[in-house]
Amino acid sequence: MFAAISAGISALWGPLHGGANQKVIEMLDAITNEGQSATEFVARAKDRKSGIRLMGFGHRVYKNFDPRAAVLKTACHEVMNAMGLSSRQLEIAMELEEIAMNDEYFIKRNLYPNVDFYSGIIYKAMGIPVNMFTVMFAMGRMAGWIAQYHEMRGEENPKISRPRQIYTGAGLRNWNPVDDRS
Ligand SMILES: CC(C)(COP(=O)(O)OP(=O)(O)OC[C@H]1O[C@@H](n2cnc3c(N)ncnc32)[C@H](O)[C@@H]1OP(=O)(O)O)[C@@H](O)C(=O)NCCC(=O)NCCS
Repeated sequence: MFAAISAGISALWGPLHGGANQKVIEMLDAITNEGQSATEFVARAKDRKSGIRLMGFGHRVYKNFDPRAAVLKTACHEVMNAMGLSSRQLEIAMELEEIAMNDEYFIKRNLYPNVDFYSGIIYKAMGIPVNMFTVMFAMGRMAGWIAQYHEMRGEENPKISRPRQIYTGAGLRNWNPVDDRS
């Protein structure tokens, strides 16, 4: 069980995946602190040379829409209203979303807000320290990891499971021996 869960945590790790909601908050803070406009930031995120991405946008699998993002957007407003909070971060997030969703760069690449775009704002409003965000994410997935572990252990003749990778590249290719190369 421990090995299965720690493998799940390790796979979740990192700013492009489970750590993206932390990066969203850092991005919103940087925009506020540096006095940038949402338009300026989106322009930088489109410029590959800048090395900046619009955090909380895009997904490896959801290419049209992330259904979880719509649920979290509503939840985010509900949490802020219930707690009587107004947040400059939420305002900027909504501006960024509005600009990006109408921008050809993001439309052409099917980049939409993902689950992390609003979850960081909710966590922050709830008083969870930013560096604990991935922990919260991992806790949510824990039930699934345990269920999968349980399912595998319950199999009559358990086999190790292995994701398949199917090579679709070239078959035979011509090559030059190392000594013949210039
Ligand atoms: C999630 C993510 C890693 C998916 O990546 P991917 O499906 O492999 O897509 P790619 O990295 O190949 O990007 C495809 C194109 O969109 C651009 N792109 C992808 N996400 C982008 C973003 N968030 N901001 C700006 N441009 C982005 C890439 O630069 C690339 O442009 P190009 O075609 O001109 O080279 C990526 O969208 C990303 O880094 N998002 C920000 C981090 C994030 O929110 N992660 C949480 C996911 S739940």
